[in-house]
Amino acid sequence: MGVVIKSPEEIAVMREAGRIVAKVLETLAGEVKPGVKTRDLDAVCVQELARYGAQSSFKNYHGYPAHVCTSVNDEVVHGIPGDRVLREGDIVTLDFGAKFRGFQGDAAITLGVGKISPEARKLIEVTEGALHAGIAAATQDVHLGEISAAVQSYVEANGFSVVREYTGHGIGREMHEDPQIPNFGERSEGPVLRKGMTLAIEPMVNACGWKTKVRDDQWTVVTSDGSLSAHFEHTIAVTNGRAEILTVV
Ligand code: MF3
Ligand code: CO
Repeated sequence: MGVVIKSPEEIAVMREAGRIVAKVLETLAGEVKPGVKTRDLDAVCVQELARYGAQSSFKNYHGYPAHVCTSVNDEVVHGIPGDRVLREGDIVTLDFGAKFRGFQGDAAITLGVGKISPEARKLIEVTEGALHAGIAAATQDVHLGEISAAVQSYVEANGFSVVREYTGHGIGREMHEDPQIPNFGERSEGPVLRKGMTLAIEPMVNACGWKTKVRDDQWTVVTSDGSLSAHFEHTIAVTNGRAEILTVV
């Protein structure tokens, strides 16, 4: 398809979609506590999407059966909400996408459930820091590889590894547009970032090795070594020479 450049008017609509995504994630975060079933979080999404007059980006996407991904502990991405009960000490990633007036927003956060270990806390902080390092690198007229390299060096300097089999992506009318945005690589790689590009930057960070595998449900991605994994994502637009975060309240 090629990279789609958005007009200022289109970016204004994406700002609204992004704000809805951020609001819903804020509401979901308020629900995360020991004893909550991941299925209950999906129900909150249905209710909130209706309230904002938005559509789910995820439901039925390549057959995905829910409105949010809930990935717990060693689950990296695409965990399906169900009967699993969140326990004190777990970490859970909430990945949520919504479509509003034809445009998509996509974001993810990882949260601790009750009191978590210092190791888990550090993993979460480093992953969020890596996202912000990537966003800071997403300036106009540099190669996309600046984002990848910034994320990778931030994560590895902190002793963790970046997942290599899944990437960030362009986003707009479609949830997944060109280009792919790897979380590792060289600064000089990839297309040059131009004003009007809209991107979902999403580092997935494992406490130990970077390898992953997919569970028998064909969706849930887990770390191969069973170590913890965290994931943060924002949808951004390249405007006025720098990245503007669209998935904020
Ligand atoms: N936010 C994720 C992504 O960027 C999750 C989408 S997977 C889906 O790829 F199938 F649930 F839609
Ligand atoms: Co995404």
